Formats: sequence, C-alpha cells, structure tokens
Amino acid sequence: MRIVVLVGLPGSGKSTYLAQLGVTGLSSDAIRGLLADDETDQTIHDRVFQALRYLLRQRLAIGRSATYIDATNLTVEERRPYIGIGKSYGCDVEAVFFDVPLEVCRARNARRHRVVPEDAMAKMSAKLAPPDIDEGFSRVTAIPGREP
Ligand SMILES: Nc1ncnc2c1ncn2[C@@H]1O[C@H](COP(=O)(O)OP(=O)(O)OP(=O)(O)O)[C@@H](O)[C@H]1O
Ligand SMILES: [Mg+2]
Repeated sequence: MRIVVLVGLPGSGKSTYLAQLGVTGLSSDAIRGLLADDETDQTIHDRVFQALRYLLRQRLAIGRSATYIDATNLTVEERRPYIGIGKSYGCDVEAVFFDVPLEVCRARNARRHRVVPEDAMAKMSAKLAPPDIDEGFSRVTAIPGREP
C-alpha cells in the first residue's frame, strides 16, 4: 500500500492532477464541505484534518492500494502525521511536489471559481517548504509548472 502526499500552493494543480489520473483523493476542501457545508470554511482546521486522517486509516485498514492526500501540505509539520500513519500500516509514503511559482498560481487562482485571497496566497508561499526525502518519504517527485 502507499500514501501519496500532494504538496503545493492553491492553484498549483493538485486536484487537476488527480482528475487526470482518474482518482479521488482525500481532499481537505471536500471534507470542509462534508462537515460544514462550505468547502472554504477555514475555522474548523483541526476537525478537518482529524477527519482526513480517520478516513486514511480506514482506507489502509481495508487494504486500499493507494491513497492521495489532496491538501496543500506545505510544511514538514503538516506532512509528518502521514509518515507516522504509513509506518504503522507498513506502507510507503511518497510526496508529489507541484513546483509552480507563486505568480503562476496567482494567475490560475484568479481565473477559477473558488478564488483564494491574495494575502492568503502570499502567506502560504512564505510557509512553503518543499518535501524532502529526509522527512521519511520513500520517494519525492517534482512536477514543474510554468504555464499560467
Ligand atoms: N498544468 C497546468 N497548466 C495550466 N493550468 C493548470 C494546470 N494544472 C491546473 N491548472 C489550472 O489551475 C487551476 C487550479 O488548479 P487546481 O484546482 O488543480 O489547483 P489545486 O492545487 O488543487 O488548488 P487548491 O489547493 O486550491 O485546491 C485550475 O483552473 C486548473 O484548470
Ligand atoms: Mg484542489
């Protein structure tokens, strides 16, 4: 079994990538919708990620071969729980990094339905730490994006 942790700013293309693969990831935004009837509700952060981890463990318990974590996962701290869960179920944990410049994310973000505010984009960009194999990932893949 494997866990694939997607890492990237809003607009970097995480959900588009999963749609192209034809898979449904565990999406923090979808869980916000399930819990609060609002995919943009940022006031229930802890509950959202508790629910996401619960669903991940349930998937591993029933032996699903791959689970994608569709959230920004910008920092080592945010990613660490998946390494631990992976270890306890004996599965590989990989990272896929959407290496897309802030300006490109901004441009894509401005064109879509659910627009993340400018100041939030800047804060997230400052927080972003690219995933590293030393965190415990079995593999780190970068997907560059330059096309706005
Ligand atoms: N490789 C790409 N080239 C050009 N445009 C892209 C590419 N990938 C995604 N986009 C466009 O960028 C926008 C944002 O993509 P997407 O919703 O996949 O981002 P996301 O990383 O899931 O963002 P969020 O974290 O906010 O959910 C969409 O309008 C999508 O069509
Ligand atoms: Mg998305």
